[in-house]
Amino acid sequence: MTAMTIFEMGPRDGLQNEVKALDIATRLTLIEKLRAANCPHIEVGSFVSPKWVPQMANTDTILEALPHEPFRFPVLVPNMKGLQAAITAGADHVAVFGAASETFSHKNINCSIAESLERFAPVMAMANAENIRIRGYISCVLGCPYEGEVPVSRVVEIAEWMLEHGAHDISLGDTIGVGTAYKARTLIKAVKTVVPVDRIGLHFHDTYGQALANILSCLEEDISIIDASVGGLGGCPYAKGASGNVASEDVVYMLEGLGINTGIDLDSLIRTGQWIGSVLERANGSKVGRARI
Ligand code: HMG
Ligand code: MG
Repeated sequence: MTAMTIFEMGPRDGLQNEVKALDIATRLTLIEKLRAANCPHIEVGSFVSPKWVPQMANTDTILEALPHEPFRFPVLVPNMKGLQAAITAGADHVAVFGAASETFSHKNINCSIAESLERFAPVMAMANAENIRIRGYISCVLGCPYEGEVPVSRVVEIAEWMLEHGAHDISLGDTIGVGTAYKARTLIKAVKTVVPVDRIGLHFHDTYGQALANILSCLEEDISIIDASVGGLGGCPYAKGASGNVASEDVVYMLEGLGINTGIDLDSLIRTGQWIGSVLERANGSKVGRARI
């Protein structure tokens, strides 16, 4: 393996969970800095209800202000209303987000797993018809804050459903970071039986400090897509206690040490992590970022 695609989560997963909602100009500055660091995909926001996640309001203005660079700026869309607003703002890359846990699905998007798939089907059909690339997220793949253990078979079923409905890649969310290396790798082995491995992404939160180890173990299964968040920002507002995604700086540093190219400028990423930490007045969640001060 010589190359890896990183999906930068900071402006979406990162900022959605911050108590302090950032203004549009600061959100755009963060995206600009990540762009300048050569991040290939930067999730820039969500077309969700602003009553549910006020931090992601005005994602339309964000998207409209960005240059058109194919598939570079994915956004979350939970339903047709979200997709339509995303299309109006010029989106060419959207993500639907489901869960492998019934309770989490209700808490996060206010419907059951089956209802969510019914809702996603027309959204994905329309996105495909408009040549919009689709990511499919599955949350709670290695455990749920409400239900505990989550069956691997349920993750596999949903992943297969998303692939059949035109998802370009499926991102597996360890939403509360409870996974361990063996469990993570076992999950990838199972999902690989229905989704080509080059279309499986790892979306690991680092709550228990296991994310890098889990990623490393999954690299043994030939994973080539990793989600990460600058400065380790993030968490899900509907998963109490969940901390941020694994820090992008730490992932890039580890991959560089393995001789795997990400195309990302690590020094520039580190400076961005330090800058956003100071803006949010929060400690830098990247160990590499802290070491390089
Ligand atoms: P609902 O209340 O069931 O929806 O929410 P509804 O259709 O009954 O509509 C209620 C209100 O929301 C209406 O407005 C709609 O217009 C509005 P009102 O009449 O009350 O003024 N509405 C919308 N507004 C803007 N954009 C939309 C939209 N849809 C409805 N697209 C809904 C259902 C899905 C909308 C709601 O539950 C929601 O917005 N949830 C968002 C949850 C979220 O963003 N969570 C965080 C992202 S997921 C995540 O972080 C996990 C991930 O990182 C992977 C991992 O870590 O595991 C991806
Ligand atoms: Mg997440």
